[in-house]
Amino acid sequence: MRDDPIVVLGLETSCDETGIALYSSQDGLLAHSLHSQAALHEIYGGVVPELASRDHVRRLLPLLREVLDIAGIIKPDGVAYTSGPGLIGALLVGAATGRSLAMAWDAPAVGVHHLEGHLLTPMLELNPPAFPFLALLVSGGHTLLVDVEGIGRYRILGQSLDDAVGEAFDKTAKLLGLPYPGGPELSKLAEQGNPERFRFPRPMTDRPGFDFSFSGLKTCALNTFVNLPGNFQDRADVARAFEEAAVDTLLLKCRRAIRENAYQRLIVAGGVSANQRLRNRFIGMGDTLNIEIYFPRRQFCTDNGAMIAYAGCQRLLAGQSDSLSIRVRSRWPLDELPAVGSIAQGF
Ligand code: KG4
Ligand code: ZN
Repeated sequence: MRDDPIVVLGLETSCDETGIALYSSQDGLLAHSLHSQAALHEIYGGVVPELASRDHVRRLLPLLREVLDIAGIIKPDGVAYTSGPGLIGALLVGAATGRSLAMAWDAPAVGVHHLEGHLLTPMLELNPPAFPFLALLVSGGHTLLVDVEGIGRYRILGQSLDDAVGEAFDKTAKLLGLPYPGGPELSKLAEQGNPERFRFPRPMTDRPGFDFSFSGLKTCALNTFVNLPGNFQDRADVARAFEEAAVDTLLLKCRRAIRENAYQRLIVAGGVSANQRLRNRFIGMGDTLNIEIYFPRRQFCTDNGAMIAYAGCQRLLAGQSDSLSIRVRSRWPLDELPAVGSIAQGF
């Protein structure tokens, strides 16, 4: 356990965003920078792994120079990089770079779980949540409901049995002819939609438990859409029905978990937590159930380096670090992570 303040460099390269940040255990976030590969993958309608890896190679060092200059830091005290889950080639770029920089700087390095990064993003805000809390992680690759007692103390209550909710947003957007990445575009289109025209099912909400399934919802959108002329209003109405159903399903499962386990705080993080309808509905639920709801700032809902720098900083402060070997994992259960500190410390 370290008491002296440290500055940690965070590198995020698990998918199609190159994110870099410097986080100080004393002064908070010092600098962060991001390059999105959305334009690179757009013509393919999804992420092309090999192109993603190559672009991370191109972007990483210029972005690193930029954040070091902004923060006026020459040599951070530690390095954190996303070591999974994600695209192996993309992860390897960040891991190899991070591990090598740490060796050159004679500093410790730690591989960070991408979803732990997302889960802790509300900690970067002025009014961070206290532990314990319920966490809903909604990204392009995962949909998880997690009981969080502290950093690294995660119990998975439920998860998607098929598509992640972000993936369902993206696939539905694609069938409506929207450009990649579709989630935000679908959301914009849904604004113009009539909520009364279609009602899509709320999958798995009639069963006990906290698991999710979103692939049927996407199919429902497809089956509805193919039978329509497909004009602007048709597309907007399908987008609206899809968004309402997806958000409602997430809300219902969270409400059930809150009622069963008497949580006082809920955090919602990951790319889909940027969705305005979702935010409004969850804030409304917070008021009704009298619990606190936390989101990351919109910029940190999707992938970024700040969340990796923060999570890595907590683990390095606790004395955790990785060996010189460079290890990345495409799959990595969140509940396999080691705990940080004791619950009594109330991190
Ligand atoms: O967390 P993230 O950046 O990447 C993963 O770890 O997967 O999440 C990306 C996902 C994409 O599926 C994207 O469409 C979705 O988040 N997303 C949204 C919105 N902004 C991003 N989905 C719905 N509404 C949004 N406003
Ligand atoms: Zn992510």
